[in-house]
Amino acid sequence: MGGPTAIVSALHEELAAVLALMPDEQAQVVGGRTFWRGHLHGHDVVAVLSGIGKVAAATTATALIERFGVQRIVFTGVAGGLSPGVNVGDVVVARHFLQHDMDASPLFVRHVVPGYGRATFDAHAALTAHLVRVSEDVLRSLPAQWPDEVRNAFGLHAPRCHQGLLISGDRFVSTTAESEALRQELPDALAVEMEGAAFAQVCHDYRVALAVVRTISDRADDVAHVDFPRFLREVASRYSGAIVETLLNE
Ligand code: ADE
Repeated sequence: MGGPTAIVSALHEELAAVLALMPDEQAQVVGGRTFWRGHLHGHDVVAVLSGIGKVAAATTATALIERFGVQRIVFTGVAGGLSPGVNVGDVVVARHFLQHDMDASPLFVRHVVPGYGRATFDAHAALTAHLVRVSEDVLRSLPAQWPDEVRNAFGLHAPRCHQGLLISGDRFVSTTAESEALRQELPDALAVEMEGAAFAQVCHDYRVALAVVRTISDRADDVAHVDFPRFLREVASRYSGAIVETLLNE
């Protein structure tokens, strides 16, 4: 596949982990975003923060494709678990994406994106299968190397890799009432975040390959499960750094 690979991080901590793997990155500012062009294990890559929310994410995706000619995009970030078995410290790799706040009814069926005749967009099958394999390997090996204190702090005893529907919307879901409503409405949804489905729509438009992995940082409810900054630093950014490194090293 020609053209560079984009590594898109939702969080500063994750981007820092990716930049630490790049020996030669050069910054270029487009649309107020800093894109880092360079190499990672010999691959031509562009690393960037996604921006938060669907509009920021769509702009970043479009700039990556139009200005940097990327042909495949790997996205890492965190998400709130929705499905009953999707717990903090697990990982979700998206097979499909949906915008849970898209509602043009009664003109269109709820969640259907007008002009597309569909509510869901697909991840790239082969790139996603590779991402699942790598994520499973990282989950098996990485937490086992950490001190008991870190594993106990976040309950990381047998973290799992799930694959399926990831939903996105312009809302941080932080009440049990809201996550329960999403579960009722979209029972297949594994996890919720704010950007993936926007990337998927842009990648569909341009026929660019997309794969997304999200570490579960919360259960999208009223309970403050974890020390969020510590979780990002000690778990999520380590997972994503190791996943990106392994993916590009194979
Ligand atoms: N990203 C991480 N947790 C989330 C949540 N609960 N809602 C939306 N985006 C998230």
